[in-house]
Amino acid sequence: MQPRVDGLDDPLLWVGADGSPAPKGLRDGTSLVIRRIAMDLDRWDKADRTARENAVGRRLDTGAPLTGTRAGDPPDLSAVDRLGFPVIDAASHMRRAMPAQPHERILRRPYAYDDTPAPGTRTNTGLVFVSFQANPVRQFVPIQRRLDEADLLGLWTTPIGSGVYAVLPGAREGEHLGAALLA
Ligand code: HEM
Repeated sequence: MQPRVDGLDDPLLWVGADGSPAPKGLRDGTSLVIRRIAMDLDRWDKADRTARENAVGRRLDTGAPLTGTRAGDPPDLSAVDRLGFPVIDAASHMRRAMPAQPHERILRRPYAYDDTPAPGTRTNTGLVFVSFQANPVRQFVPIQRRLDEADLLGLWTTPIGSGVYAVLPGAREGEHLGAALLA
């Protein structure tokens, strides 16, 4: 689901690459979303494998969707088990996060953290969620809204802080960063 970085998905990554007007000085730049999300790994470890895979919608070992065998297999969202229940839970993280439309794709670069616990607490773990996208409103916000409405992973996670940043286009030899912004 990640946008390709070989040029084919440039309109998803770089401001103005789709031909739309770019904010001053930001053409060929991008946007960066950072969210620090605490995750209670002690409680996550207490959930059994079935519960964890159900929350994500993918197998924990291979990353394959629960209806497939390989990470790249497209998920079958309509598959039901022998009792008639959906194989991929309607509130699973994958199902809620996957693009509802082709343009809702973001380049994710998440980093797990495991910091020193505050006095009186046992763990301080989670994920620094990082994503790049040409247009945060069109690409990131619809995903975040769906996760706000329902996301089984939310049983273990607590958002701590969030920011959206404009990333300047690079500078060529003899230019300086942000020159077009200040011109
Ligand atoms: C603690 C917080 C989070 C955890 C632990 C987490 C974990 C995961 C895992 C395990 C997957 C499946 C494997 C993969 O594709 O990397 C996944 C997929 C994904 N996550 Fe998250 N995630 C978190 C927060 C977020 C947030 C805040 C967003 C965006 C608003 C997000 C968007 C996505 C997307 C778009 C996918 C790909 C879905 C697909 O398979 O098509 N995640 N995440």
